Amino acid sequence: MVISSADFLISNTTFKKCPEDEKPEFAFIGRSNVGKSSLINMLTDKKKLAKTSSTPGKTQLINHFIINENWYLVDLPGYGYAKASKKSRNNWEQFIAEYLLHRKNLLTTFVLIDSRLEPQNIDLEFMNWCGEKEIPFSIIFTKSDKLSSSALQKKISFYKKELLKYWEELPPVFISSSQSNLGRESVLNYLNEILEAFSQSRS
Ligand code: GTP
Ligand code: MG
Repeated sequence: MVISSADFLISNTTFKKCPEDEKPEFAFIGRSNVGKSSLINMLTDKKKLAKTSSTPGKTQLINHFIINENWYLVDLPGYGYAKASKKSRNNWEQFIAEYLLHRKNLLTTFVLIDSRLEPQNIDLEFMNWCGEKEIPFSIIFTKSDKLSSSALQKKISFYKKELLKYWEELPPVFISSSQSNLGRESVLNYLNEILEAFSQSRS
């Protein structure tokens, strides 16, 4: 998959105002600060496309980026931001849930997990909710550069075991680093496969 163009299109607080839903799209979700915006920049090879910050809570809206003039990557606000008020959390839950439930052209959502952390209830609950609602998702373990390769393997196999307590089968799993570009090829190939299947289903 070659990314020949990647441009910011629009930010919204409701799925109702998002761009027309005839083009396929992929969304990135996960805890605040897990590296969603950085991953979009890494995949598109545009360091400043999505706004990143070392302070959690940077992304607050549904942000659409148009890729190759043909499909969308969507940067979503993070969940589990400790300083967020209850009101803003409820608001988050509502507007993101609506987006995930109603966006017809959303082919897959990537749930990002910080590869250094033990499984967190908030992520497990979110993935279980996706399962209940039949929202297809894949997992990306981020910030892999922060662990040695043996520690990384240990963390990921522990995580997979934990998931198998809830799921009969694991979703596709990727490992990424926005610093070293690890995972770029695999995620782009996966997007390509899904896009091809989508265009065949339409022809
Ligand atoms: P919110 O928008 O607040 O929900 O955060 P986000 O998930 O979009 O995270 P963002 O991409 O803004 O990254 C948060 C911090 O983690 C920034 O300081 C990034 O530089 C850093 N970061 C993101 N990905 C990686 C990675 O793969 N490796 C390392 N070492 N740092 C990373
Ligand atoms: Mg962000």
